[in-house]
Amino acid sequence: MSTVIVVGVQWGDEGKGKIVDILARDADIIVRFGGGNNAGHTLLVGEERTVLHLIPSGVLHQGKICVIANGVVVDPEVLVSELTALRARGYLTDDACLKISDEAHLIMPYHKAIDLARERLRGKGEIGTTGRGIGPTYEDKMARTGIRFVDLLEEGTFREKLERNLEEKNIYLRSILKEPGMEFAAIYDAYRRHGDLLRRYVSDTALYLQEGIDAGRRILFEGAQGTMLDVDHGTYPYVTSSNTVSGAVCAGAGVGPGSFQSVVGICKAYTTRVGNGPFPTEERGPIGERLRESGDEFGATTGRPRRCGWFDAVLVRQAARLNGLTGIALTKLDVLTGMDPLRICTGYRAGGQRFARVPASTRVLEAVVPEYEEMPGWTTPLSAARTLAELPVNARRYVARLEELTATPITMISVGAEREETILI
Ligand code: IMP
Repeated sequence: MSTVIVVGVQWGDEGKGKIVDILARDADIIVRFGGGNNAGHTLLVGEERTVLHLIPSGVLHQGKICVIANGVVVDPEVLVSELTALRARGYLTDDACLKISDEAHLIMPYHKAIDLARERLRGKGEIGTTGRGIGPTYEDKMARTGIRFVDLLEEGTFREKLERNLEEKNIYLRSILKEPGMEFAAIYDAYRRHGDLLRRYVSDTALYLQEGIDAGRRILFEGAQGTMLDVDHGTYPYVTSSNTVSGAVCAGAGVGPGSFQSVVGICKAYTTRVGNGPFPTEERGPIGERLRESGDEFGATTGRPRRCGWFDAVLVRQAARLNGLTGIALTKLDVLTGMDPLRICTGYRAGGQRFARVPASTRVLEAVVPEYEEMPGWTTPLSAARTLAELPVNARRYVARLEELTATPITMISVGAEREETILI
């Protein structure tokens, strides 16, 4: 059995794209099991920069099978344009290389309109969503009014569901959100066209994956977002609308819990967050600016500048526990070069109390003051290092301290954006 789950352990954008891309070399099948096109992976292969929002990053390796499993919410328009762009560059020319679950839910135009309008109405209290309709789509899934691929492909069913939903959504859009309503015909025609283009990829992916596991095929399950954006375990309500922890793979891909061999957590050597919500180690001044500039910390999906701060060991230790991590892939260590001293958050304080875990209360988390320990930095560039021994001694000490504080072995270190700029331990 060779099944690996990869998840982000902070607030997303940990550099999963590059790590998944490297791990995909040794996989036969790469699976997305949650989220939607709120995610975005920027991959640098040679001079080519590719941003993927839905199709697993493994697509850049010829002959691999990419699966969009049932837990993913899919905007078919985005999927079609991603497919078209990839094909124009010589990828995904074989239809058999992409499989979409017939049970995956569709993001509809009214979901996007509702997402955006609600954020506008929330004003200052907005969540800072990506505006891609993710939340409203998962709401409909749970309300049992969602539309799945299997429904899209059944002529009568799609018409019936769309009519019923649109009637209700238009009342909500017009009366509550003060937005214009939407026309049935335009949505119907566009989605039928998308359905016709995507039909050939749609199947029972849970069955396909089980057969793959039984046959000993190597499968990589690629998580989206990060643990602190998990709807149950993250910094609620400033989270996404799905479960992002490793356990979500069972429901999101339809695979039993005994089927997984290892769980790799992707973790940045510092911390970033896009959107609103508490962020104890955030640096709003020159240090944050320095991290943003050196780390090119701008959202792959929305282009928003990411909020930046020091490594938060409280948060990562918690994420390691929630995900059952067997190892950490530490990314962007090179961004810290030239910063001295480096700070690591080892606990929080608020109201005379010390916290060794992330408090559930938003109010408390917003008020906590991080406790830091300092470590000396390094000035030698790291991008040429291919073994741990080639790192400057202070970089090695920093990595060792993170391992200790998070109680998790660091098994990979990324020292640059290129595939080769990686240390495998
Ligand atoms: P939504 O997922 O668009 O509903 O956004 C909810 C929150 O999750 C917002 O703070 C987003 O910025 C954040 N978010 C969603 N997807 C990602 C991601 O892939 N990386 C980082 N943040 C994300």
